[in-house]
Amino acid sequence: MNDFDGMRALVTGGASGIGRATAELLAGRGARVAVLDLDPSTVDKPLLAYAADVTDDASVREAIAAAVTDLGGQGVLDVLVNNAGIGAQGTVEDNDDAEWHRVLDVNVVGMVRCTRAALPHLRASSRAAIVNTCSIAATAGLPQRALYSASKGAVQSLTLAMAADHVREGIRVNCVNPGTVDTPWIARLLDAADDPAAERAALRARQPTGRLVTPAEVAGAIAHLASPLSGATTGTVLAVDGGMHGLRLRPAARP
Ligand SMILES: NC(=O)c1ccc[n+]([C@@H]2O[C@H](COP(=O)([O-])OP(=O)(O)OC[C@H]3O[C@@H](n4cnc5c(N)ncnc54)[C@H](O)[C@@H]3O)[C@@H](O)[C@H]2O)c1
Repeated sequence: MNDFDGMRALVTGGASGIGRATAELLAGRGARVAVLDLDPSTVDKPLLAYAADVTDDASVREAIAAAVTDLGGQGVLDVLVNNAGIGAQGTVEDNDDAEWHRVLDVNVVGMVRCTRAALPHLRASSRAAIVNTCSIAATAGLPQRALYSASKGAVQSLTLAMAADHVREGIRVNCVNPGTVDTPWIARLLDAADDPAAERAALRARQPTGRLVTPAEVAGAIAHLASPLSGATTGTVLAVDGGMHGLRLRPAARP
């Protein structure tokens, strides 16, 4: 499939996990792709790599301006994937104000900064699309995820508001809501658990498919939303969660 032929895309948090899989998929389907990340040292050609921190407005503006120039579209950017994000654990009692500000700054305001810097270039595209990486945590009450869930709830609402603001400029805005995805992030979370095998089994069991989502599956959903083939799709929330949000199964029969 070459539905991204001739298009220019930028993926934040593109050095690892979901972002990396997305950048590689878009490139494989014909796009020229730039990755923006805190540490893009592992990113290889044909991807272009830019170091930036989404909490630092100046570094975001500088990286996006450089990426747009190097992508060679004469100021045009077609696709922005706002994917950089960090986790947080605990109830409302467990994180202090500084941690709340830090996580919301990365997960929510980071998307705002990247979008602000990219918008003039997206307006110049005839096939402009933004895809935000949200989470099942936006729509399901998960234990020990108060701060993370608040940040992703904000991302889902932000996605809908942005879709309304920019629809008449021809810019589509959607988000994906993954369940638990087998990325380096989850590997770090499991490593820190008292019983990593039991924790992995619990995460698997939470999803009706009985397994974790793969980064490639989330990348596929992001590419679907970003593709010009989805030109009528805006303001949607696409669950990529093994059925976790929508299905209510009976307990599996015991063998
Ligand atoms: N893994 C999951 O189970 C899961 C589930 C739902 C949603 N998500 C979301 O998917 C996105 C990617 O997660 P992942 O699992 O691929 O994680 P990951 O840790 O493998 O990758 C995240 C990338 O974002 C980058 N990043 C972090 N903070 C940054 C900052 N301030 N500026 C620039 N880059 C920064 C990191 O360097 C890293 O390369 C996140 O938004 C996360 O909330 C993940």
